[in-house]
Amino acid sequence: MKSKILYGPFSQLLPMDGLPLHGPLLDEELEIISDAGIVTQDGKILDFGKYDELKKIHSEADHKLNSKKDSVVLPSFVDCHTHICWGGNRINDYALRVAGKSYLEIAAAGGGISDTVIETRKASEGELVKVILQRVDRHLKRGISTIEIKSGYGLNLDDELKMLRAIKKANEQTTAELIPTFLGAHIKPKDFDGSHEEYLEFLINEVVPVILEEDLTSRADVFVEEGAFDIEVARVYAKKLKLKGFNLTMHVDQFHSGGSELAIEEGCVSADHLEHTDDNSCLLFSKSETVAVALPGASIGLGMKFTPCRRLLDHNACVAIATDWNPGSAPMGDLLTQASILGTSEKMTIAETLAGITFRAAKALRIKTGFIRKDNKAKFISFPTNDYRDIFYKQGQLQPDASVIGEEYFEF
Ligand code: NIG
Ligand code: FE
Repeated sequence: MKSKILYGPFSQLLPMDGLPLHGPLLDEELEIISDAGIVTQDGKILDFGKYDELKKIHSEADHKLNSKKDSVVLPSFVDCHTHICWGGNRINDYALRVAGKSYLEIAAAGGGISDTVIETRKASEGELVKVILQRVDRHLKRGISTIEIKSGYGLNLDDELKMLRAIKKANEQTTAELIPTFLGAHIKPKDFDGSHEEYLEFLINEVVPVILEEDLTSRADVFVEEGAFDIEVARVYAKKLKLKGFNLTMHVDQFHSGGSELAIEEGCVSADHLEHTDDNSCLLFSKSETVAVALPGASIGLGMKFTPCRRLLDHNACVAIATDWNPGSAPMGDLLTQASILGTSEKMTIAETLAGITFRAAKALRIKTGFIRKDNKAKFISFPTNDYRDIFYKQGQLQPDASVIGEEYFEF
């Protein structure tokens, strides 16, 4: 039998379990266990609660004493929307943008995503595995251990498969949990000779069968936007993917509104971006299981307004927050900093922001993580403070100092 480990004592432990998935959340609703401990066995949570009691009940457990005086323990963070499988960089785009060109203008002139497609196609599968793991490692050190990763810079049969295979290989080589998503419908690539509809038909007929055969993913995404895919074309594609058993997510309302309606109508697990979601669409989220995912890194990266999270929460939406880490619109990739800044701008409670990067983000991925619960895989982090609010107050400058993932223990 593998060892039983008692971790603690911790100043505060926030399990983030049993909380509402939708709508506003007050800090007062959070369960906070002071002088707490956690017992794990075989990489799972066996028990948690008051440290002194756990010490008596599990007296035979190995003990990992927390020598640091102050420590707040939270479930590990979840980044439910990234594009961290890419080659090259987009420094030129950045320089053009800060000099006044818009993201859509750069894309229309042939830059943007198309540039990254060229560089990603040049990279071998092994090179992509390496860059994914470097970026995953940075996330792990910042307390994020569940990470969604999209394809979408290959945009032909071989290169989309190369990206998804690289994500699968990277997943086998890290303690983080990587969730792949097929984003062949990012844009129609420049070298595809045909209409947008024909390109999506090609994805369905040529790429999707191999994805299913190799069990590379059962999640798919579409970029619904001017210059990418329009609403009706995306709807036909979404319906076909659903028939093949895919869970859908969509990039919607980033620059123009309307796409979130489609995402909700098609029962997407999440609708992401939403910077331009209007009041009507906010209302639609109120009765929907589609998670509204805000991507503050894209707002910061493009110098644009934030997703109206306050309005969405007040309309009872399940609001998650993710980095959108990518070489173009969101090169920063720092979840805690971005979530904290979004919280101050959108007047979100600390509880709402924390929910957005834990269990509500997990809901966007339809996986059971982002809370500390008995029998669940152990995934928790500790911060060197005695007040959980300090983590957001410092706006990303207070970093975790330890993390437990399954049977692994890391100190940073
Ligand atoms: O979520 N908006 C579309 N896709 C990404 C950007 C990808 C890129 O610019 O390379 C996003 O912002
Ligand atoms: Fe994105």
